[in-house]
Amino acid sequence: MADRYLSFTATAPGRLLTRRLGLPQPAALSRWSSEHPCLPGDLLHLTAGETEVSDLAPVLARTGLPLAAPAGGPAGGPGDAPVAAVVLDATGVQDVDTLAEVHAALHPVVRSVAASGRIVVLGSPLDAGADHHRAAAQQALEGFVRSLGKEIGRGRTVNLLRLTDAVAAESTLRFLLSPKSAYVSGQVIAATAAGSDTPADPSLPLAGRTALVTGGARGIGEAVARTLARDGAHVVVLDVPQAQDDARRLAGQLGGAAIALDITAADAGERIAAELPDGLDVLIHNAGITRDRRLVNMPAERWSSVLDVNLASVLRTTDALFAKGALRRGGRIVATASIAGLAGNAGQTNYGASKAGIAGLVRSLAPRALAEHGVTVNAVAPGFIETKMTAAVPLFIREAGRRMNSLAQGGLPVDVAETTAWLAHPASGAVNGQVVRVCGQSLLGA
Ligand SMILES: NC(=O)c1ccc[n+]([C@@H]2O[C@H](COP(=O)([O-])OP(=O)(O)OC[C@H]3O[C@@H](n4cnc5c(N)ncnc54)[C@H](O)[C@@H]3O)[C@@H](O)[C@H]2O)c1
Repeated sequence: MADRYLSFTATAPGRLLTRRLGLPQPAALSRWSSEHPCLPGDLLHLTAGETEVSDLAPVLARTGLPLAAPAGGPAGGPGDAPVAAVVLDATGVQDVDTLAEVHAALHPVVRSVAASGRIVVLGSPLDAGADHHRAAAQQALEGFVRSLGKEIGRGRTVNLLRLTDAVAAESTLRFLLSPKSAYVSGQVIAATAAGSDTPADPSLPLAGRTALVTGGARGIGEAVARTLARDGAHVVVLDVPQAQDDARRLAGQLGGAAIALDITAADAGERIAAELPDGLDVLIHNAGITRDRRLVNMPAERWSSVLDVNLASVLRTTDALFAKGALRRGGRIVATASIAGLAGNAGQTNYGASKAGIAGLVRSLAPRALAEHGVTVNAVAPGFIETKMTAAVPLFIREAGRRMNSLAQGGLPVDVAETTAWLAHPASGAVNGQVVRVCGQSLLGA
């Protein structure tokens, strides 16, 4: 559904009127396209404290963004030409004194970050046994990043990446420093697990891999299917029998296959395994439904249908596919949570419970799945995304959903799809057990 407010504020009279009235000023986001695969401009690399990551400079050089001279030099300082992105290496921030270097580094350059630009702060993993001064300073980076994300505006995003090894975190850095992460802001992502594969052809990272997308016939699932196919995957679109016309049409366009199956079938996992005798590499649990009602008015059927599609079937099919050995080593599972599961939402006790359950499943299964099967398990948690699901939301709640985030607009299915594709990337093995919100830094939830 078109966001007319966003179109209106893109016009000169619209900008003038909404500014006068003090209304939100969403900026048109620059998203990935084959014509514009990179951010347009330079990358500024700054450091606070003494870095604890080696090899960062070559990794940043490989992003394809030209390096800007440091602040105070010929470019990148206050009033200089805009930069497209800033990476602040704060892995060496040890205490409140070195934390001041974060302010010192970014204060002079924030103004120079272009519209739809990126700020990525690098932090060290939070270690429960660490010195408490260091723990406080490293945790402080989260409040810093989330606050800057809320104030920076103009479609610019701010994220914190915790890492130990720049090479292992390279696919994540590339994602955060690209137009593909347009609707990801205010996130804290850890890329600290071990083990990644480097694809032979970086432009087709999923070549030779099979990806299954549940609920893939439309909405976010369709965008995920298209994006994984763009990245070279053989895509299998699974959806209910009633959606087979759409599923088959899409699979035909992508050179993939379609499976007509209700994912709540008790033997869904076994049937998927039977359809894919050579196994699969990427499993996207996307199918989901809402049956909203306040708890006081919610019959048991509304509760159980949502829990069954959104959570129980994800648990069942995952278990069955592992039991059958259908998920190949180096595989990726990406499940779909929601900010409603993280923050709660009136009228969605069933949906919120199901989506919080996804986060629980991901965090618990991830270390085991990696150790025993070489498979990572992560989740995306979309915020307000423009799909048929949200088009059915009443007008005023829909408008609130669109505006109540740092980017003052809804996301597009492709924003979730790009995030999913990054998590599904063979080189993203360092990211495991994470729930990454794709919500424009929604004001709902932490
Ligand atoms: N749209 C949003 O703003 C938003 C926000 C947060 C989370 N999500 C989640 O993202 C996912 C996709 O949402 P969407 O907006 O694209 O929804 P959608 O309703 O447009 O598409 C969902 C797809 O899942 C399929 N599906 C439903 N039940 C199924 C079943 N039992 N077996 C197989 N397929 C089934 C549907 O036929 C449909 O094709 C869902 O898990 C949803 O909860 C969406």
